[in-house]
Amino acid sequence: MTEVATSVRTLNTIADVRAALDERRRAGASVALVPTMGALHEGHLALVRRARELADVVVVSIFVNPLQFGPSEDLDRYPRTLEADVAALADLGVEFVFAPDVSEMYPRGSAPGTTVSAGPVGARYEGASRPGHFDGMLTVVAKLFSIAQPDVAVFGQKDAQQVFLVSRMVADLDLRVRVEVVPTVREGDGLALSSRNRFLGEHDRAAALVLAESLDAAAAAADEGASELLAEGVAAFGDHDGVELDYLVVVDPDTFLPVDDAFRGRALALVAARVGSTRLIDNAFVDVG
Ligand code: PAJ
Repeated sequence: MTEVATSVRTLNTIADVRAALDERRRAGASVALVPTMGALHEGHLALVRRARELADVVVVSIFVNPLQFGPSEDLDRYPRTLEADVAALADLGVEFVFAPDVSEMYPRGSAPGTTVSAGPVGARYEGASRPGHFDGMLTVVAKLFSIAQPDVAVFGQKDAQQVFLVSRMVADLDLRVRVEVVPTVREGDGLALSSRNRFLGEHDRAAALVLAESLDAAAAAADEGASELLAEGVAAFGDHDGVELDYLVVVDPDTFLPVDDAFRGRALALVAARVGSTRLIDNAFVDVG
């Protein structure tokens, strides 16, 4: 009887990742990178499955990047489940997991002299609530691209602003990587999967549905223009106990700037809210006008 080897190699150093991927590339293999912070769920795994379709070798990075967390954010309580993550990835035929320590990624301390600036769009929406978040995110993504030199990198639409900013960085800095985007994976009732959902108690889990409901309400009113769409989306928040709307906005996917009332066509509705002590985001494409 032959056994199917499900071997995944966990690498902790930049040098090891470079050596392993160089060897595979010399043999003609293409490489897909899936950057993550671990605590993997079906949303992440959808990215990995897509990566498997797109390239010969898949490398998944698992790194909770301190640079993209603000001083009052949940860096310390961010879930870390490396063993279970690696087991799930082995089942999917991932060849390499890159799980570096903070000191490997930031040997000069977690305030490196050189960082990537996300520019004005990086200061809006998520960036307004989380100053510095997108500079930190782009800095680590640029480093991961440089380390793995993937042909393709796979990201989730769940983090729409992240996708926009990564794609723009790739274009602006002429990085040789293709960005592939996978649709948001949701629970049966519509809640977008997130590593932070595990912090929701029973009451908050039910209340968290309001994000998806507000996007549905916005989409249903999209025919009537951007203002009506926003009004309906905000109305869906009603007075949910323990839910605080941070922003609901509708943006032009090409610029990520808010659309005006004359806008017609495909736009993107973005929502963020605090549910209990957990901050959640979601988004959906809407056809305006
Ligand atoms: P993380 O939150 O772990 O997400 C890793 C990837 O999984 C991102 O591309 C994210 O958009 C995607 N993802 C998360 N939930 C998803 C869902 N429900 N459906 C589809 N995709 C989903 O995003 C980050 O990590 C970090 O900012 C990172 C890019 C790794 C840089 O540190």
